[in-house]
Amino acid sequence: MADKPPVALETRSGDDDGRRYSPSAARNREPIRDVLSRLVPSPASILEVASGTGEHGAFFTASLEGLEWTYSDIDPEGLASQAAWQRLDKTGRLHGPLIIDASADDWLAAENTEGWDAIFSANMVHIAPWSAATGLFRGAGRLLKPGGQLILYGPFARNGVIAPSNAAFAESLKSRNPDWGVRDLDRELIPIAEAAGLALHGITEMPANNLTVCFRKAT
Ligand SMILES: C[S@@+](CC[C@H](N)C(=O)[O-])C[C@H]1O[C@@H](n2cnc3c(N)ncnc32)[C@H](O)[C@@H]1O
Repeated sequence: MADKPPVALETRSGDDDGRRYSPSAARNREPIRDVLSRLVPSPASILEVASGTGEHGAFFTASLEGLEWTYSDIDPEGLASQAAWQRLDKTGRLHGPLIIDASADDWLAAENTEGWDAIFSANMVHIAPWSAATGLFRGAGRLLKPGGQLILYGPFARNGVIAPSNAAFAESLKSRNPDWGVRDLDRELIPIAEAAGLALHGITEMPANNLTVCFRKAT
């Protein structure tokens, strides 16, 4: 399928054991881990949507005691890498991967829980069709425990204002797929969060003009 746009934008390297690595995860995993350590209670059950290579979950689980982390993705290559990271996990707190299409109204096995303490998703809402963003918020509204958090990491615009580096990135995304694009937190995401029963809870500025954004489900 030569026309199919790639789900990963970077060149990812791989180990013989099946674990894959992406350059951006190596750069951003420590700042994200520091934010998660502040936001997430311990113990906590976390569902990751769009886990990609799986590096984030492996790193966070190894660094933060008390996290029970479950991978998921829609992409077979990502799921295979996540399965390799999970096989080699030594904490016993790394689970999955589950198959989840964020845009669907049924998240399959992820629905069969008493609710998740947090749902985490990095770098998906801009590199997926808008339906994946709306589905992510609907799923969080449906599956988080009362008071649970949806935590997003990535580039965002704020009230129509976008950092120059993110504007260039947004253009390059749109040229690859017109349904992709850097989303406006205030004008696009907060309204769909509120429609799903989630309220903005906090924003943390991250390196390279990225944000970590936390939404909370009502208690
Ligand atoms: C740029 S990668 C980010 C991966 C990882 N979270 C990270 O930050 O390194 C985008 C991810 O979104 C996933 N994705 C795209 N559309 C999706 C959908 N509808 N449901 C779930 N995952 C999706 C892709 O398979 C890919 O793993």
